Amino acid sequence: MNENITILRRYYFPKMNVFRQYSTLNAFIDQNSTLGLVPTMGALHQGHTSLIERALAENDQVIVTIFINPTQFEHSDDLKKYPKTLDSDIKMIRNISQKIIVYAPESSDLYSKSIKSSSYSFGSIENVMEGKIRVGHFQGVATVVEKLLTIFLPTNAYFGEKDFQQLQIIRSLVGQKNLSSTIVGCSTCRNNNGLALSSRNSFLTKNETKKASFIFEQLKIAKSLWGVESSKFIIKKIKNSFSNNHDFKLDYFDIRYEKNLLNAENKSENKVRAFIAVKLGKIRLIDNLPLYEF
Ligand code: PAJ
Repeated sequence: MNENITILRRYYFPKMNVFRQYSTLNAFIDQNSTLGLVPTMGALHQGHTSLIERALAENDQVIVTIFINPTQFEHSDDLKKYPKTLDSDIKMIRNISQKIIVYAPESSDLYSKSIKSSSYSFGSIENVMEGKIRVGHFQGVATVVEKLLTIFLPTNAYFGEKDFQQLQIIRSLVGQKNLSSTIVGCSTCRNNNGLALSSRNSFLTKNETKKASFIFEQLKIAKSLWGVESSKFIIKKIKNSFSNNHDFKLDYFDIRYEKNLLNAENKSENKVRAFIAVKLGKIRLIDNLPLYEF
């Protein structure tokens, strides 16, 4: 057994399967059972654990990956600043179930030759919102997710609707590459005030965390007006609310079709969501809400 793993197991996580190398991990996968994969970048919170719990309920075996993927960061500073909390992440996973397999590799295990994105065409779902602002971000996300789906061949892979554009990128990737996994979208976990849980929330002050509930309130207003007013009217109204609230700087507020992320003008039978990205102090937050009833 690899020395790294032995050390990790013996000193830190004696009862859990924590692997640095997928080649060693693969021996622990039972080919005759269903496998759920939950990719993460660590700094785990209840949003992540909701995905893990769902994967546990729906599969015989579960792998959680913890890897801060360098190719999806535009600026090396953001990569450096990303919270790294491997020990507490593993404790959190252990509290859910000791059966869960954790894959927490070094970059060299996934990017053996060079740390570069592959090249994909995602069309309209990539060139708007996060993809427009964070150029190359989704190429990096797709690169690492393709690697994980190809290495582990999970039956099901779990992703949050919190990052809805990412979820659609991954669905497109799986279609284009004919990958065998089912992509399961999981609803957004929020705190009691409606703020979507995110690793970035840990950078908010207590006061900012309270103020951040404004984002969900605005999304709910948009939902209440959808079908009554045009999307042009709703967008103008929400943009006005943000310009009148000096705590926030709005990046975008859009109403788009789920399927292709093109702008939606009026209510139709196609599923539509409101999407928002906003800066509160120095922290950039994103969120979205379906405008239809479940
Ligand atoms: P990360 O930000 O760690 O998120 C891992 C997964 O948790 C993603 O699918 C994300 O959408 C989901 N998630 C985050 N907050 C959530 C919330 N409040 N409710 C429900 N789900 C939530 O997203 C990434 O990592 C990376 O881009 C990754 C897909 C792992 C590729 O590197």
